[in-house]
Amino acid sequence: MTQPSDYLNVGCGNHYHPDWTNIDLVASGPAVRQYDLRRGLPYEPKQFDAVYHSHVLEHLAPADAANMLRDCFRVLRPGGIVRVVVPNLEAIATAYLDSLNQADNGDEMDVANHQWMTFELLDQMTRQRSGGQMMRVMQDPNQINRDFIRSRIGFEMDTPSKAKKTIRRRLSRLVRSTKKQLAIAAVTMLQGKSGRDAYREGYFRQAGEIHRWMYDRVSLARVLREVGFEDAQVFPASESGIDGFDSFGLDRVGSSPRKPDSLYMEATRPRDEVASSVGSSRAA
Ligand SMILES: C[S@@+](CC[C@H](N)C(=O)[O-])C[C@H]1O[C@@H](n2cnc3c(N)ncnc32)[C@H](O)[C@@H]1O
Repeated sequence: MTQPSDYLNVGCGNHYHPDWTNIDLVASGPAVRQYDLRRGLPYEPKQFDAVYHSHVLEHLAPADAANMLRDCFRVLRPGGIVRVVVPNLEAIATAYLDSLNQADNGDEMDVANHQWMTFELLDQMTRQRSGGQMMRVMQDPNQINRDFIRSRIGFEMDTPSKAKKTIRRRLSRLVRSTKKQLAIAAVTMLQGKSGRDAYREGYFRQAGEIHRWMYDRVSLARVLREVGFEDAQVFPASESGIDGFDSFGLDRVGSSPRKPDSLYMEATRPRDEVASSVGSSRAA
């Protein structure tokens, strides 16, 4: 019988089930292994029955994302399922165009909705500070279109995610911040203010918050196919081919999707290993 630990949650953030195998750049709790995915998944071939990642793939540059999916393929048993959840480019672009047409009338609420949709498209790729414009708007109690924003991003509107502050986390944060300040001092000495600003921006862009790409149902299915998966299909938030998936409550809060702006896609590692040879040389 499948154990939850045969399920892998990649880039789990602070949204994970403790019985699963969980991994993230930042360990938000003792059940999460701290690891940079760009180094490849630190697991044996064919170790898992399911691999899940939610709002992670878009944080990787396209080449890194394809490598990550290749690695998901490698660690899945034949017949295993990858479930990929990403911001839905098609839905966001459609909502942006709708908001643009509405905003033509100059109505204050419609203009605010259009501004939010522009942020949804661009802010997460271009921001230079954590949280960006989206966080600023979400934290403004006088924001007139809070209901619209909640309909777009769900419960995050009211509970912006925060990692638990354990002593270990505080310490590792202190070490990171001290090293960063030393590096900034060195770069400023050697390259002046522009060097310092470039270092700061590069440091932030490497820290995992920025979106580096977006996907729709066609482009995501294509990448999955290219790395060897078959049968890529779109699912609703509450449905999955992964045994018992919905019981872990990863993609919904109560009866609502946790991240309503999402595209949920699943694909299978073929049982027939000959068919899977279209995958990369990294596939075991
Ligand atoms: C938007 S959060 C999503 C978190 C969680 N999966 C969820 O659905 O709420 C993106 C996560 O990807 C992680 N991440 C981004 N780049 C990463 C990398 N190179 N290695 C490991 N994790 C990474 C971040 O640390 C963050 O926890």
